[in-house]
Amino acid sequence: MSKKIVVANWKMNFPGLGPWRGFRPPKNVEVVICPPFPYLSDIRHRISDIGHPKSDIRLGAQDVFWERSGPYTGEVSPEMLKNSGASYVIVGHSERRRWLHETDKMINKKIKAALGAGLKAILCVGEPLAVRRKGVKAVENFVKDQLAKDLGSLHSKSHILNSRLIVAYEPVWAIGTGRSDKPSDALLMAKFIKNILHSKVLYGGSVNGKGARSFLQYKEIDGALVGGASLKAGEFKKIVKISSNA
Ligand code: PGA
Repeated sequence: MSKKIVVANWKMNFPGLGPWRGFRPPKNVEVVICPPFPYLSDIRHRISDIGHPKSDIRLGAQDVFWERSGPYTGEVSPEMLKNSGASYVIVGHSERRRWLHETDKMINKKIKAALGAGLKAILCVGEPLAVRRKGVKAVENFVKDQLAKDLGSLHSKSHILNSRLIVAYEPVWAIGTGRSDKPSDALLMAKFIKNILHSKVLYGGSVNGKGARSFLQYKEIDGALVGGASLKAGEFKKIVKISSNA
């Protein structure tokens, strides 16, 4: 079975590194920590004392801009992220779609730039509650449409997508609400996305130590994107352990 990926999305929080010291993720799990931009370099330089020097902890950013440099106040380029030690980047998170009005067109440019620079991109897709209420077919159509728009012409470049694109299926109504999706529904969506793209698919939306196994037990679900529960090192380590044994 391929390695599960467990991603900590710290959002606009910095829980501190103390409880992470001595953390050695199991070899069969790839752990990615995505702190706010200003902490990337700091964590990179301290990562050897967070975990074992040869551990599989990777750094990820929570967003990226599509240009390499120039007059784009407040933005950060893929190259800058790489220089800060990031090898992953989250793109199109629903909170950015909501609060920053990020459009599929912008997300498409970000994905292209991130993959083009050699970063692994975690593309977030998922439906709002109103769509979920219409049933499975509506959810599938919504996600299919998001993937088509967010990936655009990349759709046909399967060699790049297979190796560096990861899709996080995150129903919007399950994010930060404590209401996870039904594991069987998340499985259906993971299979649906894999039929379109053959990429790895993570599940995200109120994943915690208690419920993680019900998602990670499926081979089609390649890991988890964890928000709230990633701020508590103990809880997050529990999810990593469950992934290792799944
Ligand atoms: P949550 O967040 O685990 O707090 O629901 C997940 C995410 O936003 O990626």
